[in-house]
Amino acid sequence: MYKSGKERFEKAGVDIYFPSKIEIEDDPNKVVIFRKALMCDVKSLYNLFSEYSKAGEMLPRSMIDIYVHLRDYYIAETEIETEGEECRGYELVGACALSIVWENLAEIRSLAVKKPYARKKIGTELIRKCLIEANFFKITKIFALTYKPQFFIYNGFKIIEKSELPHKIWSDCINCVKFPDCDETAVMIQL
Ligand SMILES: CC(C)(COP(=O)(O)OP(=O)(O)OC[C@H]1O[C@@H](n2cnc3c(N)ncnc32)[C@H](O)[C@@H]1OP(=O)(O)O)[C@@H](O)C(=O)NCCC(=O)NCCS
Repeated sequence: MYKSGKERFEKAGVDIYFPSKIEIEDDPNKVVIFRKALMCDVKSLYNLFSEYSKAGEMLPRSMIDIYVHLRDYYIAETEIETEGEECRGYELVGACALSIVWENLAEIRSLAVKKPYARKKIGTELIRKCLIEANFFKITKIFALTYKPQFFIYNGFKIIEKSELPHKIWSDCINCVKFPDCDETAVMIQL
């Protein structure tokens, strides 16, 4: 029997659809806000992923892919107002998506943090938000395919054989530029 929405939010510890904040370690005046993505984030997300995919550090994401999966995304943004086309007038500095792929299985996808903001635990906080949401949905197995296994190991994931993942997940790979020569490492955490 499912508990009421309010009880389930309380059990999850954090209300998944509301923002949280962290202070950047070496800059106490700089606050980064974590929230669900909005429609106006799509352009900034596309630019963030394009920068890293051009450098071969992550797989490319098309605008259509970002629109279709927009509800999966968490955003990290600074509290400092910007002049550009950023959503809400703040700078988008990171993003990460949690996509449900199968029974009791979700994938962390499209994780990226802008270079000047790297190694400030923004990626770690984005993962934490995704794991809280997975917990909310009672999903206990979360995996990622990554070029940065050390980051995931820091966050409690373990390296697994790709063959441990169900065949269903490989259907998305047909559209991948690297298919069938996947050079990413599979990592998984069990909550
Ligand atoms: C990987 C990435 C998301 C990490 O985000 P981040 O905010 O810089 O990471 P964090 O500060 O939370 O890192 C936490 C810990 O993970 C590990 N880690 C982070 N980045 C790492 C890297 N590039 N190499 C090895 N370990 C790394 C470190 O142990 C780090 O702790 P430390 O800085 O105290 O040593 C970011 O570097 C990035 O966007 N990279 C390019 C895109 C990419 O590779 N995405 C992942 C695809 S799945």
